Amino acid sequence: MEENKKVLYSGIQPSGAFTIGNYFGAIKNWVDLQSDYDCYFCIVDLHAITVPQVAKELRKNSYESLITLLACGLDPEKVTLYFQSHVSAHAELTWILNNYTYMGELGRMTQFKDKAQKQGENIRVGLYSYPVLMAADILLYQTDVVPVGEDQKQHLELTRDIASRFNNLYSPTFKVPEPFIGEKGGRIMSLQEPTCKMSKSDENNNAFIALHDGRDQIIKKFKRAITDSEAEVRYDKSEKAGVSNLMEIYSCATGKDYAEIEREFSGKGYGDFKSGVGEAVADALKPIQEKYKELYEDKSYIKEIISKSTERTIRTASRTLSKVKKKVGFFEF
Ligand code: TRP
Repeated sequence: MEENKKVLYSGIQPSGAFTIGNYFGAIKNWVDLQSDYDCYFCIVDLHAITVPQVAKELRKNSYESLITLLACGLDPEKVTLYFQSHVSAHAELTWILNNYTYMGELGRMTQFKDKAQKQGENIRVGLYSYPVLMAADILLYQTDVVPVGEDQKQHLELTRDIASRFNNLYSPTFKVPEPFIGEKGGRIMSLQEPTCKMSKSDENNNAFIALHDGRDQIIKKFKRAITDSEAEVRYDKSEKAGVSNLMEIYSCATGKDYAEIEREFSGKGYGDFKSGVGEAVADALKPIQEKYKELYEDKSYIKEIISKSTERTIRTASRTLSKVKKKVGFFEF
């Protein structure tokens, strides 16, 4: 948390158990970056309510998300980890930025169009304004870089537009954030439909590996993973999406590259390959699961972490927010 480090910001939705897609695609990178940047990681519960939630589950999922992030190796001495709803500046800045964002811009967001379609007739205003809240998250901390997956690039672009628009209208207020390049670890796809992203909300339980899945369950799910009718472990994303996805997962779990993996399994069938991937993933998750169990019981430690980092977060966020309020013209003595 040194002042001379660049600020890196990211958020994650507290929607149920995280999968190896969240872990290998995002969380593991955060762990690797935590010493090099001044990192803020936010559990975005305000974003979560843009689609229907059951209160009791949201509360439980939020706590478990936090424990999972710590169990994965985020170090509370190094990063600022907090809940979005604990810092009221997010909601306040969102309201203000709603007035520097155009309906046309929000209507073009592909994630909004996808999610709105699933909501039927009553589409929430919050779902529409979702990217403005995300912009507020990022801009409150004078963020330099945001590690984003493919699906959030459009939202980051909009954040940049809103920031520049506000800066041009008044005077430099927000740092205009850059996408973080150099993200490694991949986009992990569904085990059952390897052209779609792995999702924890998939109705088919065999499509994803949750971080808390037991060893036997993990191995069973990989055994059932979709491959193809050849019997060759070879990386080819368009022709062999299933096998390539398993190779990607194996590579994330072991650090081996594709060429090494091809050599390791050359002449062996998919059966051996799939058990190899299952074993490797189970091994990689074991320490996380053990740490999770240990932390879960330690409520007073968790509470202390959160109150410390929330305090720091509020301090930083209010500096930006008060500048904004002044520029917009809100009266103060
Ligand atoms: N919208 C992001 C997602 O669904 C989560 C998110 C919220 C986020 N605020 C953010 C990501 C700020 C990066 C920066 O994945």
